[in-house]
Amino acid sequence: MFRVLEPELMEDAAQIIAYANADFDKPHSDFIERLKAIVNMPDFNGKALDLGCGPGDISKRFATAYPLCSIDAVDGSKAMINYAIDSSIARRTQVNFIHGKLPDVVLPKSSYDLIFSNSLLHHLPDPHMLWRFIKDHTRSGSYIAVMDLLRPDTTEMAKTLVETHAANEPEILRHDFYCSLLAAFTLEEIHQQIIVTGLSLNIEQISDRHVFISGTLS
Ligand SMILES: C[S@@+](CC[C@H](N)C(=O)[O-])C[C@H]1O[C@@H](n2cnc3c(N)ncnc32)[C@H](O)[C@@H]1O
Repeated sequence: MFRVLEPELMEDAAQIIAYANADFDKPHSDFIERLKAIVNMPDFNGKALDLGCGPGDISKRFATAYPLCSIDAVDGSKAMINYAIDSSIARRTQVNFIHGKLPDVVLPKSSYDLIFSNSLLHHLPDPHMLWRFIKDHTRSGSYIAVMDLLRPDTTEMAKTLVETHAANEPEILRHDFYCSLLAAFTLEEIHQQIIVTGLSLNIEQISDRHVFISGTLS
């Protein structure tokens, strides 16, 4: 099945509320557990960057797991970043939410000790932009963790995944999930993207719909 692009930024108010209220506990807590396996130091006090942070759930979970760490969290949607700020009062000192679109966003630091991102890659018309951006904002010893959806082989398989994992979610979220599956990349495509950028990262399918791409730069 060919890739079908979806709108890059999430700017619709109803879409943002549906996304922010969805039950992502399983994949998001799994993401943090996988991060802990990479950054195996509860007292890690580096500077982290969350790309395409959305409503900020993963940034906040990360801040809780690493209380000494500070996080810059970026999203290109003004409405989304406002939602994240309004719902994150308790973590304001640790998480700095920034409105800005990759690759043009102006960041407070030129490089980070850790860059993580969940569910951004499939939004991007040009996936190479994300890998170049990550390469340009890391250095030797930086950690990288990216999770995203995988594109199924057929639209029928995409519909089955929606029924399996979002049967009780609102229609707007089910529609977004379906479109996201069609916009996602295959494992082979992600392998090619990583090779082109020259990053040395591990690529692993971790569920029926998720891929986890990670590593420590040498
Ligand atoms: C599916 S959401 C994921 C949100 C969050 N990472 C999570 O896991 O809950 C993808 C987010 O990426 C943002 N986004 C898409 N393209 C972007 C870009 N070029 N620069 C910054 N943010 C972008 C969208 O606005 C949206 O909020």
